[in-house]
Amino acid sequence: MNLNRKDVIALQDMSAEEINLCLDTADSMRDVLKRPVPKVPALQGKRVVTLFYEPSTRTRTSFEAAAKALSADVVNITTSASSIVKGETLKDTIYNLKAIGMDALIMRHPMGGAPNWAARVFTGSVLNAGDGMHEHPSQGLLDLLTIRQHKGRIDGMKVAIIGDIRHSRVARSDAWGMTKLGAEVRFVGPPTLMPVEVEKMGVKVTPDLREGIDGVDVVYTLRIQLERQQGGLFPSIREYAELFGMNSERMKWAADDALLMHPGPINRGIELSSELADSPRSVILDQVTNGVAVRMALLFLLLTGPDHALPEPEVN
Ligand code: NCD
Repeated sequence: MNLNRKDVIALQDMSAEEINLCLDTADSMRDVLKRPVPKVPALQGKRVVTLFYEPSTRTRTSFEAAAKALSADVVNITTSASSIVKGETLKDTIYNLKAIGMDALIMRHPMGGAPNWAARVFTGSVLNAGDGMHEHPSQGLLDLLTIRQHKGRIDGMKVAIIGDIRHSRVARSDAWGMTKLGAEVRFVGPPTLMPVEVEKMGVKVTPDLREGIDGVDVVYTLRIQLERQQGGLFPSIREYAELFGMNSERMKWAADDALLMHPGPINRGIELSSELADSPRSVILDQVTNGVAVRMALLFLLLTGPDHALPEPEVN
């Protein structure tokens, strides 16, 4: 089986088979990364560009490390140092990257849907590295890989995703991916931080932390996205931390062997105590390590698949 698609934009539109293929391929990539020389020539001669319109530490570095481990050539565009500050539109930027001959465009953008649009303009593969409040598919996959690595399966796992779900593309990708693979997902947080059409996502919802994490196998904490808040959605950070902040005491409400996860960056002392973040229950740094393997898998599957047929270039 192959990933018979040009782009990876959202887990919502991927099948369970496609998701499993990505995870299985990522397992092989993890083996590559354990070799003394963690590099293979699979993508030699392929050109990959990262275009990030929002800050990022993990995701951009991890995509770059992944592309380099497969021997692709990587160019990074930091939007603050590009012609974008001179007023170039996204469309013109993408046309230029196409003209330079890039094979893959890894893109982060504050507007949900921007990568969908880019995928129609760009002839090569587009990988969504996070678009607004929509999706972050490579994060969803690395979270699935981390759960599978530690628990042996996804099917039947109970996962509580806690916090600012409304503004979280991570929560959306996780919920789509986990439910497609048979996990039970619970969204836990104040009703003002729930997405509008939450009932369509096949998840359970509760504003009660204790009820939400009762017996779960995975406690997944989210950062409060202060940069996306319109204001007034909860009274204060301190109150939020008191009601929904995770710590070692509260972790006892979950299953005895429950994992603690977080996509990063952590706001220590708000959604998560430092002590719990650094405890043996935490697999946060495994998530980061798995991110490289998952992104290698995505680049490999998109850029080398025998079924991979790029559409004819758009006539301008
Ligand atoms: C997340 C993001 O940017 O969507 N971080 C990440 O990519 N690991 C989550 C966040 O910013 O809180």
